[in-house]
Amino acid sequence: MASTARDGFTSTFGVFLATVGSAVGLGNIWKFPSLTGTNGGAGFLLVYLLATLLVGLPVMIVETMLGRAARANAITTFEREAPKGQWWWKSIGWMGFAAALFILAFYSDVAGWVYAYVFKAAFGELTTTDPKAAASIFGGLVSSPGTSVFWQAVVLVVTGAIIMLGVARGIEAVARKLMPLLFLLLLVLCVRSLTLPGSAEGLAFLFRPDFSKITPGVILTALGLAFFKLSVGMGTMLTYGSYFRENQNIPGTTARVMLADLSISLLAGIAIFPAVFAFGFEPASGPSLVFMTIPAVFTSMPGGTLFMTIFFFLTAIASVGAMLSLLEVPVAILAERYGFGRKQAALCTILAVAVFGIPAALSNSVTADLKLFGLNPFDLFDFLSSNVLLPLGGILICLFVGWIYGLPQLRDQLSNHGDLSNAPVINAVFFLVRYVTPLSIAVVLLHGLKVF
Ligand code: TRP
Repeated sequence: MASTARDGFTSTFGVFLATVGSAVGLGNIWKFPSLTGTNGGAGFLLVYLLATLLVGLPVMIVETMLGRAARANAITTFEREAPKGQWWWKSIGWMGFAAALFILAFYSDVAGWVYAYVFKAAFGELTTTDPKAAASIFGGLVSSPGTSVFWQAVVLVVTGAIIMLGVARGIEAVARKLMPLLFLLLLVLCVRSLTLPGSAEGLAFLFRPDFSKITPGVILTALGLAFFKLSVGMGTMLTYGSYFRENQNIPGTTARVMLADLSISLLAGIAIFPAVFAFGFEPASGPSLVFMTIPAVFTSMPGGTLFMTIFFFLTAIASVGAMLSLLEVPVAILAERYGFGRKQAALCTILAVAVFGIPAALSNSVTADLKLFGLNPFDLFDFLSSNVLLPLGGILICLFVGWIYGLPQLRDQLSNHGDLSNAPVINAVFFLVRYVTPLSIAVVLLHGLKVF
């Protein structure tokens, strides 16, 4: 049933753009700067880079490969590729299903803030460089229960409607149009931020590491961010891989997606941190950092209101691309395994996200004291997905490919049945996913969670 009429991406470059569309999102514009700020700057960035190269990219390559090999959703793929009797591998897919709901719960909340900021920017409500005023605008938004839930609902309706249009038309069309513009606006922001008086301190914060700030918790957070930014560890890349073309160069495409994703994050960092120091914001402000600093930079340049509006609009679109790829995991599972129509599957997933999402959206008001492990619902879903489920999914995917799937099949798949001469790359990937990557994730996970 699943393999006969599967939708797919229609061109090699379209595959690249759609995959970038999944990877680039609030992870780059919002999460990366916030976490870099709260975790001490350059040292965190360095660990994050290592995690991306040694862990994120290898997982991305083999996860995408598995999906293309099986041409199926995150659960069915493991059913097809695992040896008979080893049914437990498909729990990776179920973990991904759960992780998708948890991530969407808080992601839709932050996307809602972005949507709200599009309108606030357009109406000139954000034109301030004063940290106190900026903090009160953001605080007013997130601490109002009605407003937070309203914007989250708008996000879920918009995203649900787009996913119902189908993979190739919906996702590709959206992803194709936005990236270059967002990139350009970020460049403009960087120039302005770097020319502000007092900006040098921000550059030092971002690029001169202070190694004393690197703790096991910081390393786990950097690792979680690497997974989150590349959309790996929970079946998104696997599901996208299942729509890849047969002749797509997987190591090449994923490496380019990783570089594009990294460049956008670095630009966001360079746009934000010099301004943070120039205007006297607190680098460790957390989730509010971007929402206060970006308007301040725009306010200090000509045409600020217009550009600010466009910026938040493009960020909203980037968040749509990422959310579509998150939704695709449960939607493909429900459609291919349980015979749901795509529309029905999308609707059910959106409703499930709302169940988790509403408590998350109320985390700065009604549910602020509803704590588990000392975390409110928003922080809990974030922590549980990025710092637990994604790394765990990453370990299991690596162990599966490194020890069960094996080198001969990996060679066949990653070389497109011998069409590509990339043997050294494949050997390196195999060595990493068999030993280095799972072991590093395990050590970081156990240390970071204070298991030892
Ligand atoms: N990578 C996206 C971002 O940076 C978010 C995302 C999309 C994601 N799909 C994912 C994160 C799968 C983890 C897993 O905004």
